[in-house]
This record gives sequence, C-alpha cells and structure tokens, in this order.
Amino acid sequence: MKKTVYVGMSADMIHPGHLNIIRHAAELGSVTVGVLTDAAIASYKRLPYLDYNQRAEIVSNIKGVDRVVEQTTLDYVPNLLKLKPDYVVHGDDWKEGVQKQTRQRIIDCMAVWGGQVIDIPYTKGISSTAMNQRLKEIGTTPEIRLRRLRRLIGAKKIVRIMESHDGLTGLIIENTSVQKNGMKLEFDGMWASSLTDSTSKGKPDTESVDLTNRLQGLNDALEVTTKPVIFDGDTGGKPSQFRFTVRTLERLGVSAVIIEDKVGDKHNSLFGTDAGQDQDSIENFCEKIRTGKAAQVTDDFMVIARIESLIAGKSIEDALERAAAYVEAGADGIMIHSKETSGEDIREFCLRFKADYPDIPVVAVPTTYDAITEDELASWGVNIVIYANHLLRAAYPAMVACATSILEHGRCKEASEQYCMSVKEILSLLPNNN
Ligand code: SPV
Ligand code: MG
Repeated sequence: MKKTVYVGMSADMIHPGHLNIIRHAAELGSVTVGVLTDAAIASYKRLPYLDYNQRAEIVSNIKGVDRVVEQTTLDYVPNLLKLKPDYVVHGDDWKEGVQKQTRQRIIDCMAVWGGQVIDIPYTKGISSTAMNQRLKEIGTTPEIRLRRLRRLIGAKKIVRIMESHDGLTGLIIENTSVQKNGMKLEFDGMWASSLTDSTSKGKPDTESVDLTNRLQGLNDALEVTTKPVIFDGDTGGKPSQFRFTVRTLERLGVSAVIIEDKVGDKHNSLFGTDAGQDQDSIENFCEKIRTGKAAQVTDDFMVIARIESLIAGKSIEDALERAAAYVEAGADGIMIHSKETSGEDIREFCLRFKADYPDIPVVAVPTTYDAITEDELASWGVNIVIYANHLLRAAYPAMVACATSILEHGRCKEASEQYCMSVKEILSLLPNNN
C-alpha cells in the first residue's frame, strides 16, 4: 500500500522552499497538507495575509499535493492521531530554536505507530520573514485593511489595539513586538482616540477637533501601516452627520467606528460623573446606529455601540438593557466603559451580556482597571482590548523632562544622554532617510 505523508504549513507566501518540501514528501507517498487555520497561526504570530480558504485553495493546486486538511492548532498531534501518517516532512530548520520541542513531540507521537519524521535541508536564500518585511513595505489596500478586524476577531482569543494619533505612533504599533514562550506578540491594530487626537493638537476632548482634522493624523498613520483601525467617533453627531462619517471612514479602509450614547456637551468619559454627562435615549441612539448601518457600503465595516451607563453612575441592568436594544438596532459590537478601578462592573456586564449574545463582540478599555490582564478580559468574553491613550501619556512626561533638563543645565548634553535617542537612530528610523 502507498505510504502516507503529512506536511503542516501556513502557506501564506508560497516560495520554492515549500515546493521543495512537497516534492520530497511526494517521493515518499501520498501527501496530505495540514494548512494551519487563521486561529492556529494567530495563536503564535501575526494573522496571515491570505485567509484559510485562499491558502487551502493554493496548496491544493500544488503538484504533489493529494489532499488538504485543516490544522486547527499549532500543535500537529491532533491531526497526526487522526491520520496516523507514515511520515511527517518538514524543513530541518526546526531542529533548533523554538520549534525544537514541537518536533520532539511529533517524533514521540509518531513512534506509537512506527511513523517517522523526515527533515529536509532548509532552502537557503529565501525567508518568509524577509518576504513579510517586503510586503509591509508594499503596504496594503483599504479593502484588505478593513476586512482584517473581523478576521482577527474570528481568529484570536482577544484582539489587542493600541492608541495612535499620528504616523510615528502608527509605526510603533506596526513594528513593535516581543518574543514570549515561542510566540511573537504584537499589537493587532490602532485606536484613533478622540482624547489623544485632540490632546496632541492642544485641544480638549470635547469634539472640538472636527472629523476633517482628525482624518489628517489618521491618514499619516494609514500611509505607513498595514494594520486595521478602530475609529473613536465620539457621539457620532446627528444621524445625518454620522451617515457621512461612516462613508468617509469606510472609503479610507477603517474597520470600525465606535460611537458613544451621550448627548449635549461631550466630555471625556474618565471625568465620570464629575462632568455633566447626559446619556442619549435608547430610541435616539438606536436611530443613529440604524442610520450608520444603512450608510455603509461593504459587509465588513462595523458600527460598535459604546454604552456610558456605568460612567454616568447608572446600573449594570441599564447597560444590559441598552446593549440588547443597540444589538437589535444593528450594532456589530458593544463597547462597555467604566472608570472603576476593580473591573468588577465590567466583568459582571460581560458575563451577563455574553450569556445572551455569545457572538456579539465586546470591547473593553481598561484605562482605570489596569491590573486586569488580557487573559482575564478574554475569560470574561471581551473580544477587543483597547489601550486608549498610553503612547501619548508616555511621550508627554518624557518630553517635559527633556525640556526641563535643558533649562536646568543651560545646555542639551544631559538631556541628549538621558532622554533622547541618538541622531543616528532617528535618521535610520524611517526607511527613506537612509
Ligand atoms: C478615547 O480614547 O478618546 C476614548 C476612551 O474615548 S476614553 O478616553 O476612556 O473615554
Ligand atoms: Mg474618545
């Protein structure tokens, strides 16, 4: 009987290295490729450019591939137990580094039925990492960027969003990553915050910076990034204005707008009941949601309703009643906000809301309940976490310290040494400066 061979791959950017592995595999027997699902890939690195169906279609058309199956976890073992192949074929690069343990686990698993792991010499001169970098430089299109948020929500336990208010903060979000337990952690997208957009312009967060102005900063970030954007739409204005906002954001490739159920003079929520914060009626706000949903052109754009009940000192019941009405009106997600520090109110809201609406994404902004981890938020049912103001809050004190140091010393040596990156570093920060 013909031997069976299993190959696992992400197959986001097929290159000769992949073809070489499949060629070797086909010489050994009938080849099944386990294509990693979006969720399996997103569990340890960036979401792939192509979605699972696109990648599976490409792989199934490669010469030597007999069939394609889903590999739903980074771990090969569940599929191997099902298929019991005679061989697993992989590039020999996995003998070292973070994949070493994965390989050993597979060897141990296959030994049970006498299966074998075959390591193929790694194809030199071609690297997915380098191709990834080139792709980032090429950029993205509004359609691809817009769709990405829904894909992330579907693929990740929790989607991690960071505040951006200009090109530079966009670049930080695009490029910052850490390696932890063999996983590459990075931000999934940007929050166009009304607080940081207005503060960076020296204005209060009272809808005093208009949409056209805010879009300038956003456009700078869009030019240098590929990650999705959630736009802070404040109250959304009147329904007739909100209709245009939705169209404008969608055309730019923004994935979602969040509007809050406030009326009258809008103040930042973190003032809580210290500022007169009036909530809109359920009826009026639902009308705004319906207008926004009717205005959008694509299926993927999201209108997310933000509930200010807890900020306004009202009950969790009030927030839940509003959430149900907003979902009924067509909201694609709910953001629940609070300025309590324990996170208990958010937890209770999420658990109760999710019991009735398990498929409606929930957004949390843990500025005040900052001890709560992403894992905890995810366990409450939170789908998106937004770090709403941190890059600006980090930058301002650093800049003040630098300015103060120059005044104190009457020269800039101390400030340069203590607070500044080198001139060489700033010149090489942006590719075109080289
Ligand atoms: C913002 O970032 O502008 C927000 C979140 O709306 S908050 O500041 O917490 O209200
Ligand atoms: Mg805001």
